[in-house]
Amino acid sequence: MIPTHPRRGLFIALEGGDGVGKTTQRALLGRWLEDRGFELVLTREPGGTELGGYLREALLHGGHVDPRTEALLFATDRAHHVHSLIAPALARGAMVVTDRYLDSSVAYQGAARDLGITEVRELSLWATEGLLPDLTVLLDLEPGAAAARRQEAPDRLERESDGFHRRVREVFLELAAAEPGRYLVLDAAADPGELHAAITARLAPLLERR
Ligand code: TYD
Repeated sequence: MIPTHPRRGLFIALEGGDGVGKTTQRALLGRWLEDRGFELVLTREPGGTELGGYLREALLHGGHVDPRTEALLFATDRAHHVHSLIAPALARGAMVVTDRYLDSSVAYQGAARDLGITEVRELSLWATEGLLPDLTVLLDLEPGAAAARRQEAPDRLERESDGFHRRVREVFLELAAAEPGRYLVLDAAADPGELHAAITARLAPLLERR
């Protein structure tokens, strides 16, 4: 699907399982982009907007919801996030770096919750009018190693089984393998400085081309 949003900035998504170091890499990348004079929008899903904050709280710390409701709430968060924050930022030339985007819904709700990869992807593409990242960085890590790194109490999704998190990882890797031009897959066990260098090396030509 062709994005219908006009854009001059670049849209970069960080994806991966829980606790793989996305937030650290988002901060490092943000600083690198700012040092180069770009306007920067650092954001995340769920919860990149005020409405998203309520949805995040309900999704991660609220009571049980059925898988379809969960998928629709993530898609609602994403629709509002794109419409009110991401698309306007890209249109004015800002760099947008988000901690999670559409692939998280495909992996968690589509695959691990078994709602269907195609259906959940279509739902999010409808919600976002087809907006896809210019580059998705997948920080890949074995779920056991990721859980061991966690410092805070697990949220509702983190409490899911090992099998659930293995399925999430598998699907992220499949999505990346299907479109190597739009993905950078990194071993998240590597040193954060090395990961950052790999990300900026991949991003530099994209910045020059725009
Ligand atoms: P996040 O805050 O990124 O958690 P972490 O820092 O542990 O990676 O994401 C919150 C949780 O929401 C995470 O378990 C993944 C889940 N999630 C989905 O299930 N679907 C989605 O579409 C998104 C954006 C997140």
